[in-house]
Amino acid sequence: MHQSPDGPRHVAIIMDGNGRWATMRGRPRLFGHHAGARRVKEIVRKCPEIGVKYLTIFAFSTENWKRTQSEVAGLMKLFRRYIMRESRDLLAEGVRVRFIGDRIQLDPKLVKLMDELELLTSDNDKVNLTIALNYGGRDEVTRATRRLAHEVASGKLSPDDVDSECLARHLDTCFLPDPDLVIRTSGEARISNFLLWQSAYAEYEFVETLWPDFTAAEFERISARFGARERRFGAVPK
Ligand code: FPP
Repeated sequence: MHQSPDGPRHVAIIMDGNGRWATMRGRPRLFGHHAGARRVKEIVRKCPEIGVKYLTIFAFSTENWKRTQSEVAGLMKLFRRYIMRESRDLLAEGVRVRFIGDRIQLDPKLVKLMDELELLTSDNDKVNLTIALNYGGRDEVTRATRRLAHEVASGKLSPDDVDSECLARHLDTCFLPDPDLVIRTSGEARISNFLLWQSAYAEYEFVETLWPDFTAAEFERISARFGARERRFGAVPK
């Protein structure tokens, strides 16, 4: 209910702890991922109420392919089903969905669903939900650098025009402002290759809660804490 003018406009979340949540209940890891997927909806719905205009969530990293084949296959199926089941509600609730990450290695059937959801929700503007899928910060900067190198080699771009803004425009996140706040659940204090370039001045919150237990109320509390802090971006206090 308290929309704060100083609250974070862009929140990015590393949704960690699904596996442990399931193991604690004697259930397979995928059970935790399904519970985690249900939380996403609750958090997205909370955003407009607390003034969060951009929400970016880490669904699958470039490193997650190292998990067992059955967990990877289960997650990919979950993403497909999530898109098919949630499209209608996302559209109706004013959510614009976009994906970041490398689509080349993803199943074409999943990529088609991702493209369709992006197009379907492209006129929405209430909340911008960005889902990082096969995403890694280093991989993203590498791909952007490769594109820049091609543009320079073909004479489209002069090497002297390559500055930080030019690089940012070549990142997957070119349509996003930088995150103000990055939250990681499950007690791990690592950034795990998430939004490396974009988070240069972000605040971080590492919380103990496992992702399937992360409620909208906790999300609101953390966002309110952010609003109370002074961010200086390297400058001296006023
Ligand atoms: C980390 O928990 C979670 C993931 C690798 C997957 C995140 C996916 C979801 C929350 C599911 C749904 C998302 C969408 C967009 C539908 P972990 O498995 O690393 O947990 P652990 O550290 O306890 O093992």
